[in-house]
Amino acid sequence: MSKEYIKLNAGDPDVEAPQFAINVALKAIIEGGMNTHYPHYTGYPEEFQKAVVEYYKRFTGVEYKPENVLPAAGSSAALYLALASVLKEGDEVMLFSPYYMGHTRIFEGMGVKANLVPLKAENKYHPELDDIAKTVTPKTKAVLVCNPANPTGTVFNEAECKAIGDVAVDNDMAIFADEIYLHFVYDDNKFVSIAGLHDDYKERTLGIMSFSKTFSMTGWRLGYDIVPERYLEKANIIKGLTAPRPATFVFKMGTACLQSDFKYVEERCEEYQKRRDYFTKAVNDLGWPCHKFEGAFYAWFDATSTGLSSKEFIDKLLKEQNVSMSPGDRFGADGFIRVPLVHPVSVLEDVVERLKAFKANL
Ligand SMILES: Cc1ncc(COP(=O)(O)O)c(C=O)c1O
Repeated sequence: MSKEYIKLNAGDPDVEAPQFAINVALKAIIEGGMNTHYPHYTGYPEEFQKAVVEYYKRFTGVEYKPENVLPAAGSSAALYLALASVLKEGDEVMLFSPYYMGHTRIFEGMGVKANLVPLKAENKYHPELDDIAKTVTPKTKAVLVCNPANPTGTVFNEAECKAIGDVAVDNDMAIFADEIYLHFVYDDNKFVSIAGLHDDYKERTLGIMSFSKTFSMTGWRLGYDIVPERYLEKANIIKGLTAPRPATFVFKMGTACLQSDFKYVEERCEEYQKRRDYFTKAVNDLGWPCHKFEGAFYAWFDATSTGLSSKEFIDKLLKEQNVSMSPGDRFGADGFIRVPLVHPVSVLEDVVERLKAFKANL
């Protein structure tokens, strides 16, 4: 009998959004009225912007005005909006590698070249500070920091954030801070928001945020940018014309999430930590180096010893064991495999058994 399919190739949480938030959305839909009209006539975007300001202050200590918050239908739209507000074809951007392919795809589409700063396994996927300044060229207009990082789980510490901020200030670069995993940080690691370290950093930092992972809302499409004054005018023009924007009832749902007690998020974090503790050790024990990542929820392992490319590995695994994973070459590291821990430990145990069987058959 063939094994049941296990999907482990997308960072799409295995649970529903919090019920209290779903209820808010349902109530808005059933009520109709203003909820059926253009959001900008309802006042909901303004309520949402204010809720974001309070939330951001509460969790990062950084203060903004409501007009700095630009809502978008998911952070993928917010990312495009932020990047397009600053960059143009022919520009270069600094990026840490392995990287999230959602970032590089937008750069490629815009004709922007990414200059990579390596995150090496021997440094626990943290950058060497000297590499940061060395990577700047005369065409480098920005740096993108994904903190905590997808796929490596790196939680950039204060010294690293400062090194990035200083290089940005010295070279008049923008900072794109994709902080969508900020609530998923484990052990003694501490999330530091780069914009909070210095006003000189804040005035050039565009924050990119999402509800997809924090509140398991990938399908509801809600995210936003936090844009400082210097990029705001252009960002508003682009947003008004092109960026996909959230629906009325999704604004209400997002506001309810931000004003909640965050117990839901704490529970998710504890659950991801359990999965991490189990899975990274089990894969490491199979002989494929897999570090105990610091943040986000992706296991990232080195399968180069198999002699297979990432694509060969995942294709063979799918065919023989009916498990899908993401190939590392998409994240800039062929021979590596990325596994979002979006199943409970009981399912991950099954995955480990299948990896064992797969390995025995190589
Ligand atoms: C680092 C990072 N940024 C942005 C996104 C996009 O998320 P969404 O468009 O669902 O908000 C993802 C999704 O995996 C991600 O990992």
